[in-house]
Amino acid sequence: MATITAQGETFETQSFEVADGTRLVKAIEGQGIDILHRCGGHAKCTTCRVSFNSGEPESYTAGEKRKLEDKGDLGDYRLSCQILCAGEMDVNVLMTMTSSGLDDAGPEPADEIPDDNLS
Ligand code: FES
Repeated sequence: MATITAQGETFETQSFEVADGTRLVKAIEGQGIDILHRCGGHAKCTTCRVSFNSGEPESYTAGEKRKLEDKGDLGDYRLSCQILCAGEMDVNVLMTMTSSGLDDAGPEPADEIPDDNLS
């Protein structure tokens, strides 16, 4: 099991356990936090962005690296749809439905990271 702590300006801090390998965006949303995922978890929108207080993975999927480099944002935040839960992770959720005023978080991300994000 992985232990996740999620913090944000629009919800109470939550710490919870999820199965190793769960996509981080789905773990966060599964706690009732209204994190955005406007592209459905395909590393295209960056609205699932988080910053890490601890436990940041060193590796990136190809899709995450490509997107963050394209935007010039590499090193500023990570894409929670491209990260699998492991160990202890403490994150700040940076964009929510509440903070953005949007009334739709986006299409539900699949359980697995899409193949086209891996290469
Ligand atoms: S980049 Fe769009 S949901 Fe992660």
